[in-house]
Order: sequence, then C-alpha cells, then structure tokens
Amino acid sequence: MKNNYEAEICGMAYGGMGIARVDGKVYFVEGALPEEKVVFTKTSERKKFGLGRVVEILTPSSSRREPVCPYYNKCGGCQYQHLDYEKEVYYKAEQVKENLGRIGSFREYGFDGIMPSPLYYGYRSSITLHMSEAGYGYFSLDNKTIITIEQCPLAEDAINRAIKDPDALGAKRDITLKSDHKGNVWINGHPGHRFFKDSYLGTELTFSPKAFSQANRQVAGGMVKKVRELMQNEKRETLFDLYCGTGFFGILLRDMFESVVGIDESRIAIDCAKAARKGLGIDNARFYCGEAEEIYAPCYERLHGKKNTIIIDPPRSGISKKIAMWLSGLKHAGSLYYVSCDSAILARDARILTQNGHWRLMNVSSFDMFPRTKHAESIALFKRFPD
Ligand SMILES: C[S@@+](CC[C@H](N)C(=O)[O-])C[C@H]1O[C@@H](n2cnc3c(N)ncnc32)[C@H](O)[C@@H]1O
Repeated sequence: MKNNYEAEICGMAYGGMGIARVDGKVYFVEGALPEEKVVFTKTSERKKFGLGRVVEILTPSSSRREPVCPYYNKCGGCQYQHLDYEKEVYYKAEQVKENLGRIGSFREYGFDGIMPSPLYYGYRSSITLHMSEAGYGYFSLDNKTIITIEQCPLAEDAINRAIKDPDALGAKRDITLKSDHKGNVWINGHPGHRFFKDSYLGTELTFSPKAFSQANRQVAGGMVKKVRELMQNEKRETLFDLYCGTGFFGILLRDMFESVVGIDESRIAIDCAKAARKGLGIDNARFYCGEAEEIYAPCYERLHGKKNTIIIDPPRSGISKKIAMWLSGLKHAGSLYYVSCDSAILARDARILTQNGHWRLMNVSSFDMFPRTKHAESIALFKRFPD
C-alpha cells in the first residue's frame, strides 16, 4: 500500500500541522510549512482526513528556521520552533478567527489581533517536570513516555539553572518549578516554598508552586492592561472573578470596581489571594473557595450588585455546559470577559453562552502567552443585550 506522498502545503492547521491535499483528501502533516513542497509519510487515516509526517522537504519555505532545542521532534511541548516567530503569531491569529467562525459561527465581532510575546524563548516562569527512571523530563510526543531534559529553552534562566541541580529537585513524582521576577526559584514540596511573592504591574501578589500562575509574565501583564482598556467605559460595580486562582485579575483590577468577589476551587490558590489582599491592605475584595457548579450560582445570588462585570478564566478544558447555561441567563451583569488558552474550546463555550441571545460577542484580543507551542491565549468580551 502506498504510504509516501509528494504534496504542496497549502495552509497551517490549528496545532501547527501543514495542510496538504492528495487525491481530494486533506492531510495534516507534522513538520511541514505552508508554501513548501514535501514528501510525507501517512501515519494514520480517517474517513474525512489523514495524518502524516514529513520525511523530506523538497522546497523549503523561506520562513523555515532551525529549532534551537535538542529535544524538538521528541518532546511534546513545542510545535513551532521550525518556523519564523512573526509567522507563528500570524498563523495563531488566523487560527483563533478560524475556530470562532467554524466552531462558533461567530463572524461579526471586533478582532484586535494577537499581541506577540517580547521573548519567544526564556519566557516561562512555571514548568512541571515528571520523574522517570532516567531522571526528570517532559512527556514525549506519544504523551506517555517521559524524555529526560537538561534544560528547556522556553523556561526562564533561573529555572534552567535549578533543573541542573539534582539536590534542588528532590525526589517527587511531579515537580513544579516557578521563578519570580528577581530570579528566585520556588519548588513544590520544598520547605519554606509553600508561598512566595512576585510583582506584576507594580503590585505584589502571592503565589505558590502548588497553585496555577500565568506562564509568561510580560504577556500576562499585557492581558491585564488590555482588560483595563476594555473596561474603561463600563459602569463598574462588582467584579466577579470566577476561576480566580490566586486572584490575579481581581486584585490587579480592584481599583476599577466598588467590590471584587473571587472564587476558585483550589484552597491553596485562595490562600494566596487572601495573603495578597492582606499584604496590600485591600478592603474591597473577598475570596471564596469552592467548586464552580456548587458555589457560583448561590454566591452570585447573595453578593451581586446592580451592574456586575464577570471575568472567567477556566482551565484549558473550558466550562461545563451547566456553568455556560447559568452564565447565559445571568441577571444584573453587563459584560463578561472569557479568558481562554484554547480558541476551539472558547468557540464551543461561546456558542452556548450566546444561544439565548442575551450575550453578544463584541471583541476578541489574542496574546501569544506560549510562543513556540501550539497554544494562544484569547480574551473574548461579551456584552449583555438588552443592556
Ligand atoms: C487558568 S487558571 C486561572 C487562574 C487565575 N485566573 C489566574 O489568572 O491566575 C484556572 C483556575 O480554575 C480553577 N478551577 C478549575 N476547575 C474549577 C472548578 N470546577 N471550579 C472552580 N475553579 C476551578 C483552578 O484551580 C485554576 O486556579
């Protein structure tokens, strides 16, 4: 059976694979770039499309670059190291619009484009490594095997220095290393590392190696600035910061609201938020620990004002249908900001949110929070109609 094909690559798919058409069938080809002529081998076949991997590049794209990482093509973390960075952000912006159109049927909204990351290597202030018999590493392309690493070019220098020191790592199965802006590294399970402080936009927040934190400090700061800009003309009473984690958005936006209510299921994240509130002497923010489906509706009923703003920043998997339905019928809420690191999931959830016609998608801004990987962050702004 024929397994190798020669083809021209006509586009870049979500996830970083080149798109080829052979005998009327679409193939997603790993390692291939638009405008290239390649030979690829078919790795699997479905009814409507096939998957393949490049075996030879016959005509390389002028945007092709040499990957900097020795583990590229083995590690499952990066998908765009072989591409010029400007092109990477261009394709990511196209993919956000494509997903919103194809999955969500959204076409009439403002798109601000994508904010590139000032650093496209050495930007990650948080990584998690997994233990194997050979040492610590990341999951490989099969998502099961662990490939040991000596450094990760995406991580901040301080993290790479810590990885080289086996005494610093200890002997945990999964180890999370976070760096602060001063170059200190904080590791889960280490004595005295339960909480640490780090500064964002001049405000000292509290974090923990055991709680979520934004991966790219400069882009995360850029997201907060963008949200502030979008909120400027709103009537601002109570900000509900749902999936608030350590209170990142709620605390950094607190001066724009009469009160802030932050809710997250992670006890340690809420402890961080409360510690930051205390350290900063904030008196208009409250934080609660609870699971979305249990706590959001009763908490909102109890604490809402007359004109509320909602910000949700759920995990990559998005929100449940139940939460989406609840949000779609929410009273006393004028705007909803959905922060998402997967535009396909954002499109899926936004469809449910807008289905009864009360929320309308107004604006989307994207951010390259995770350069060299397939992921991009987006903030979608929904406005309530009738207002
Ligand atoms: C992407 S993080 C965002 C955190 C925060 N907004 C920030 O910027 O640091 C997602 C958060 O959702 C929380 N979470 C996940 N599932 C949840 C659930 N079912 N109910 C409430 N919170 C949840 C996690 O604990 C995590 O803090």
